[in-house]
Amino acid sequence: MTDLVLRKIRWDFDESVPFLWQPANPAFGMFCNVFTFIAVPFERYLIKALSRGQGRFNESAEIAAEADGFLRQEAQHASAHRKHMLALIARYPRLERAYEDATRCFDDLLAAHPVEFHAAYVANLEATFTPLFKAILDNRDSLFGGSDPRVASLMAWHFVEEIEHRSSGLILYRHLSPNPWYRVRHVRATFRHIGEVAAAIARTVDEVVPVADRMVSAEALMSPALLVDEFTYRGPGGRRRAAARVGPPTLFSAVPTSHLAKMVCRLALSQMPNHNPADQPLPEWAETWTAEYARGADMTVFAPQ
Ligand SMILES: [Fe+2]
Ligand SMILES: [Fe+2]
Repeated sequence: MTDLVLRKIRWDFDESVPFLWQPANPAFGMFCNVFTFIAVPFERYLIKALSRGQGRFNESAEIAAEADGFLRQEAQHASAHRKHMLALIARYPRLERAYEDATRCFDDLLAAHPVEFHAAYVANLEATFTPLFKAILDNRDSLFGGSDPRVASLMAWHFVEEIEHRSSGLILYRHLSPNPWYRVRHVRATFRHIGEVAAAIARTVDEVVPVADRMVSAEALMSPALLVDEFTYRGPGGRRRAAARVGPPTLFSAVPTSHLAKMVCRLALSQMPNHNPADQPLPEWAETWTAEYARGADMTVFAPQ
């Protein structure tokens, strides 16, 4: 069982939070804004879907405790990101549609499948978070540097707790369905669905938020070519191609190629039938964050810079 800490942090977001909260890297700022719009309905879906397995989780005190710790952390994330989301909607009221569309996508998914499918979906998606957030937190200076500390701190907390409960989704899935191949068979469905959610959110963002306030296109950023594009500007001739490129830098432009390559490799491995999140390399800074929390620091302004 994972030792999960329930941290209730008093997040406070209002209309003064800019959409462009990371002007030094608008693509990274956009990625996190879209992440907020995904997180609220995804975590609501996760809680609803996995609650359907509660009767079976209760067969084991350890599994029941894992589910309890996991769902409580996710509920905190959903409510914190909701505050951030509502602050953005207060500035751009038509952004409400992004939330409504994403919620509908998850409601449709919930109605269409049994609990085993949802546990597989959650396990597959959550398995990507540790490699992704390790790359981000290991490069926190270049990605978060100069950003609004309120949003940066929210993201840092969420990324750290996703890493902390990295095994929970898989532990619950295994209890419901000991067959790893059932989960692997649904990898494509998982990423097709979450890709559609991200695309729907991105379309609305581009329509509703003026270009001057966002600097980059959410649709272009959240396209399936996201990681391919990152490698276009590396390797032989990469610098020349980067120099000829117009507009703000790409999302991971400041992340070393070796970090990016390891991340992509670990993302692929995270979907394998024998994947064990417990073995993953972790970002050192996650420990710094938990130590600061334990010492009583104000985590609403503890930005990873
Ligand atoms: Fe979460
Ligand atoms: Fe999670």
